Amino acid sequence: MRLKALLSFICTLHFSSLVNAVYLSLNNETSVDNAAALIVQGTLDYYAGYQSGGTIGMFQEPYYWWEAGGVWGAMIDYWFITGNDTFVNLTQQSLLYQAGDDWNYIPLNQSTVEGNDDQAFWGIAAITAAERNFPNPASDEPQWLYLAQAVFNTMAARWDDEYCGGGLRWQIFAWNNGYDYKNSVSNAALFHIAARLGRYTGNQTYIDWANKVFDWLVDVEMVVVDSPWSFVYDGAEISGNCSDIVKYQWTYNQGLVLAGCAFLSAYTNETIWYDRTISFMNSSSVFFNNSVLYEAACQSGYNCNNDQRSFRSYFARFLGLTAQLVPDTQDQIMSWMNTSALAAAQSCSGGTDGHTCGINWSYDGWDGWYGLGEQIDALEVILNTQILSKEKPLTHNDGGTSTGSGAAGTQTTPTNVAPLVITKKDRAGAGVLTAVLGLSLVLSGIWLIM
Ligand SMILES: *[C@@H]1O[C@H](CO)[C@@H](O)[C@H](O)[C@H]1NC(C)=O
Ligand SMILES: *[C@@H]1O[C@H](CO)[C@@H](O)[C@H](O)[C@H]1NC(C)=O
Ligand SMILES: *[C@@H]1O[C@H](CO)[C@@H](O)[C@H](O)[C@H]1NC(C)=O
Ligand SMILES: *[C@@H]1O[C@H](CO)[C@@H](O)[C@H](O)[C@H]1NC(C)=O
Ligand SMILES: *[C@@H]1O[C@H](CO)[C@@H](O)[C@H](O)[C@H]1NC(C)=O
Ligand SMILES: *[C@@H]1O[C@H](CO)[C@@H](O)[C@H](O)[C@H]1NC(C)=O
Ligand SMILES: *[C@@H]1O[C@H](CO)[C@@H](O)[C@H](O)[C@H]1NC(C)=O
Ligand SMILES: *[C@@H]1O[C@H](CO)[C@@H](O)[C@H](O)[C@H]1NC(C)=O
Ligand SMILES: *[C@@H]1O[C@H](CO)[C@@H](O)[C@H](O)[C@H]1NC(C)=O
Ligand SMILES: *[C@@H]1O[C@H](CO)[C@@H](O)[C@H](O)[C@H]1NC(C)=O
Ligand SMILES: *[C@@H]1O[C@H](CO)[C@@H](O)[C@H](O)[C@H]1NC(C)=O
Repeated sequence: MRLKALLSFICTLHFSSLVNAVYLSLNNETSVDNAAALIVQGTLDYYAGYQSGGTIGMFQEPYYWWEAGGVWGAMIDYWFITGNDTFVNLTQQSLLYQAGDDWNYIPLNQSTVEGNDDQAFWGIAAITAAERNFPNPASDEPQWLYLAQAVFNTMAARWDDEYCGGGLRWQIFAWNNGYDYKNSVSNAALFHIAARLGRYTGNQTYIDWANKVFDWLVDVEMVVVDSPWSFVYDGAEISGNCSDIVKYQWTYNQGLVLAGCAFLSAYTNETIWYDRTISFMNSSSVFFNNSVLYEAACQSGYNCNNDQRSFRSYFARFLGLTAQLVPDTQDQIMSWMNTSALAAAQSCSGGTDGHTCGINWSYDGWDGWYGLGEQIDALEVILNTQILSKEKPLTHNDGGTSTGSGAAGTQTTPTNVAPLVITKKDRAGAGVLTAVLGLSLVLSGIWLIM
């Protein structure tokens, strides 16, 4: 009797751990789908829209609005790569609910605290939806392409020639910390969105803007293009005419620039964009430890904040896009993706649900870390192992059905000129400046100052 009870107890344990832990075998698509479904479940545990008093499209504190834009972008990938449509309605509803009255991702609730980079991550989700033919909204609602164009137009209108010979500031509003900082993520995101809109619509204006932003980034040396190494640094204060570059390197900045170059290489066939793609891909190796993706600037010291803990998610998505668009990058990128996905999957074995993902994928098992960033990092890297068997991002010319307008975002009164009651900004935004000031420079090793 006692032995039988013990055996049954052991069987139950064994069985439940088999059911619960994420299992991944790369050449077994079902295992990828199942792994992704479990990780999505953990992701949506943080979704505020299901909670009483919660807002549609938002994730619970401490996760900021911008990261929600990143999550819905990952949910588009989840639908596109697995074909599972369970969360299509939720994703669509969230992307529309947060679009704001002017359909440009400056919703009133965010309109006093929003930065250029924050707006951009929702714009990137929108252009992704267009390129993947994510189910279009009803005709009386804003369309994916329109939303991406509105983000582009409102961002481009903030181009500031007064300091540093051009560039976007980090913040949109003068009362926010970081208004005097011009950062790579805001500008790299404008470059990235312009490249994708240019390829999708065939409108040369976007390509011209992509060139202009890229050239400026290189001119101020926030981006260094060299062979075989090309890097994207964090940003600079306008007070020194952007001459004092803060040399942190983040995966998402590298990814924004890399994939932007890949879209332009695929669209223009120009050698210069091809060479840049290869070079940014080459130098992405600084973010891999034995082929396992890590956020090098903060992870070694276990110093990554909530924003930074999600950066690898976008980087994995941008690597996948690059591999689709520039075939010569496929071997290197998929080798990193495969190794990182297996490492990530084995880290998704913690928490009370048995499949919570950790931060350190080199660690054997779950390392005790958890959060929205950890979930979507693992999700995108696992999903993107399958990207080469999927269709390339679409354009107007080859089946993309989303509609838009060149004047999107410029037609209605922008909410950002309305008189507002200002409260002190209490958030880190995309976190970079705060992180830069808060982190000791010793953390990151010599590769940062190469
Ligand atoms: C593929 O993975 C699924 C889900 O984990 C599993 O049930 C199935 O047995 C695997 N197929 C093969 C051929 O290993
Ligand atoms: C689709 O996703 C849902 C939610 O994650 C899951 O319950 C369901 O089993 C998935 N369907 C398939 C066919 O994998
Ligand atoms: C999405 O919503 C539409 C309309 O409300 C409904 O017809 C459809 O079944 C829903 N799809 C899914 C996958 O839940
Ligand atoms: C704005 O905040 C209010 C109060 O929390 C909430 O009810 C509303 O849904 C929010 N709107 C958006 C677009 O987030
Ligand atoms: C400021 O920086 C820009 C961009 O590098 C440069 O073109 C401009 O000449 C600089 N202005 C001054 C006053 O140094
Ligand atoms: C990329 O790296 C390889 C070897 O690591 C090198 O041969 C090649 O020149 C590099 N390409 C560029 C464009 O930097
Ligand atoms: C780029 O090259 C591809 C394949 O060689 C070709 O199909 C496409 O038309 C070219 N595009 C341009 C803009 O020249
Ligand atoms: C890289 O991974 C190895 C184990 O694979 C580990 O010993 C080393 O500490 C890791 N380095 C960093 C910077 O995480
Ligand atoms: C991750 O785990 C590996 C293996 O246990 C360890 O050597 C390494 O120091 C950890 N990395 C970080 C950044 O802590
Ligand atoms: C990645 O894994 C898949 C599935 O096992 C395999 O077909 C592919 O060759 C691998 N790619 C690389 C570059 O290792
Ligand atoms: C191209 O895009 C620009 C910038 O959004 C817009 O002003 C222009 O009308 C567009 N041209 C066409 C032909 O759509």
